[in-house]
Amino acid sequence: MLIAQISDTHILSPESDQPAASLRADCLRRTVADINYRQPDAVIFTGDTVQHGQPEEYALLRELLAPLEAPLYPVPGNRDDKDAMRAALSDLAYLPATGDFLHYVIDDYDTRLVGIDSTLASERKGRFCEVRQSWLDKTLHDQPGRPTLLFIHHPPFDVGDHYVGGYRHPEEAEALADIVQRQPQVIGLLCGHVHWPIERMWAGTQARIMPSIAVDVRKGIDESVVQGRPIYMLHQVSRSAGLVSEAREVV
Ligand SMILES: [Fe+2]
Repeated sequence: MLIAQISDTHILSPESDQPAASLRADCLRRTVADINYRQPDAVIFTGDTVQHGQPEEYALLRELLAPLEAPLYPVPGNRDDKDAMRAALSDLAYLPATGDFLHYVIDDYDTRLVGIDSTLASERKGRFCEVRQSWLDKTLHDQPGRPTLLFIHHPPFDVGDHYVGGYRHPEEAEALADIVQRQPQVIGLLCGHVHWPIERMWAGTQARIMPSIAVDVRKGIDESVVQGRPIYMLHQVSRSAGLVSEAREVV
C-alpha cells in the first residue's frame, strides 16, 4: 500500500493581506498535482490545514484539494477549528458528525489507518485525554492481528528545540506510548506540527514527523526559515518491510 502524507499547509483566506497567502495556496496546489502523478492508494493529512480556522480558509482548502484523486484522511491540528473543518469536509463520511473528537479508523485497506485527534479548542499543545486513551486502546485491541498505521498532529515525544508545542500534560503523551507499546501490530506513527522532518523509535515502533507543505513556516535546526520547494512524504507500507518512507520534493 502506498500512502502520501501532507501536513501543515496553513492555508490563508484569499482575502488575507498576508503575503504568504498565495504562496501557501500554490504550495498545496503543486503538491496535489504531484501526488496525483504518483497515484498513492490514500492521502493522510496530519493537521494545521488552515491558519485561523476560518470558513473562508476551509473553502479555499476544499478548492485546492478537489483535484486529489486518492481518498483523503485528515486529522486536525491546533490551528484547525473542528466544527469549521467538519462542515467543510462533511462529504467525508468516516469523520464523526458529532462529538468532541475527529478521530476514526479506516478498515478499507490491508493496513488499518487510525487517525488520532490530539487537539483541544484554543490549546496550542497536544492533548490525549482519558476518553481518547480508552478509544485508542479499544480500537487497537479490536484487531490485534492487522498491520496498523497511526497518524496524529502533535508528536507525543520530546524533539528538543524543534518541539514547538509539546503536550499540555506530559503524562497524556506517556499514556499514548504505553497503549501503543502493548500493540506490536502498530507499524508506525506519522506526525506533523513541527514543520521539519525528524525520525525516531518510539513505543516500539517507527515515528516520523514530516516537514510543512507551507514553505514559509518550515524551520531548520537553528530555527531559520527554510524556503524552497514543498516536500511531502510517500510511505510504502507492507507486512514484511513495515514502513519505507521517501521525501518527495515537488518540482
Ligand atoms: Fe503547523
